[in-house]
Amino acid sequence: MFPLGFRLTCYYYRKAYYRSFWLSPPACAVAEPHRRYTGEARLPLLGQNLHRYFWYAALVFNVILTYDAVLAFRDPDGAWGHMGLGTLVLVANAALLWLYSLSCHSCRHIVGGRLNSFSRHPMRYRYWTLVSRLNARHPLFAWISLFGVALTDLYVFLVASGTFADPRFF
Ligand code: FES
Repeated sequence: MFPLGFRLTCYYYRKAYYRSFWLSPPACAVAEPHRRYTGEARLPLLGQNLHRYFWYAALVFNVILTYDAVLAFRDPDGAWGHMGLGTLVLVANAALLWLYSLSCHSCRHIVGGRLNSFSRHPMRYRYWTLVSRLNARHPLFAWISLFGVALTDLYVFLVASGTFADPRFF
């Protein structure tokens, strides 16, 4: 539920479905079918304001998936040093999800928002600059991480069901 909520309330995806489904606006210079523009101040769009809380939850999921990816370097007998295609898939999936989450507009605001002067907060300015760089590629991270999650789930399913043997590198 949290990952879905995070995606659904993402500012980038909103742009697409507001135009396509909510018709707000349907296109440039085309009148809205709604009698009055209420933005995100009324239901159902009021729920979009939960985005930053979904962001916090997404970080918890990212930590769990990163932990899973690290565990994938272990043999079934517990020895470290194993690596296969599945290990790379899990690492790539976690990395893409971190890029998606850290490039989020809410993250940018949490890191550098509500400040009157960056010169008094040089560390926050440094983080904000980094997040802003990532933020410029947020649409790209949104799509590749979405496909990454789907393909990782498919890969894990195929390996777990015995359809496919995970190629081992060492
Ligand atoms: Fe897309 Fe926050 S704006 S995840």
